[in-house]
Amino acid sequence: MIVAIDGPAASGKGTLAKRLAAHYGLPHLDTGLIYRGVGRIMVDRGFPLDNVEIATTIAENLDLADLDPERLRTKDAGEAASVVAAHGPVRKALIDLQRAFATQAGGAVLDGRDIGTVIAPDAEAKLFITASAEERARRRFRELVGRGEITDTPAGFADVLADILKRDARDSGRAAAPLLVAADAVTIDTTALGIEEAFAAALAVVEARR
Ligand code: C5P
Repeated sequence: MIVAIDGPAASGKGTLAKRLAAHYGLPHLDTGLIYRGVGRIMVDRGFPLDNVEIATTIAENLDLADLDPERLRTKDAGEAASVVAAHGPVRKALIDLQRAFATQAGGAVLDGRDIGTVIAPDAEAKLFITASAEERARRRFRELVGRGEITDTPAGFADVLADILKRDARDSGRAAAPLLVAADAVTIDTTALGIEEAFAAALAVVEARR
């Protein structure tokens, strides 16, 4: 069984993907880490993010085993990821690796922006996880403050919200695999849901489809 989970930044899709994977004993791939990995290498090596050729070469040589979530879940890496993710050739270079993960024996859970639409259009279960921009900013803010990456001030929150809105616009507005709800996906709005409620709703969808 392939479970495809898409949605905007900080919608809760990662948490749900992890929970579903644990529930079914399936491997999980957070595909955002792949784009973050490419963005991080570009930034670390001083390459301009709009250099499609270099970003594509980096994408072609990316190894899932090298992606360190600790280093990649930073604000900078997320920002760089959303820029390189808009380059069509970069996305194309990353398709095979994601499909190989999705189609491994026994199944898999993948979360990202284009899993149900591009990477695994035949997935048995497709979820689109969303929440209001303000709620997503609150969640991301708490996470970043908790990690000491930003200070707990109203200006800090305003920054995170602005960042979420910018990322939404970039992810939805790009020509290459924009963030879309797959026709056969079930949308879960987690704005007013706790983690357990959201998980129960997601589980019900997957159970109905498998
Ligand atoms: O989900 P996460 O915040 O880690 O993703 C970082 C960025 O990577 C997103 O803003 C998006 O631009 C890009 N991305 C993508 N397609 C995916 C996963 C992530 O374009 N499947």
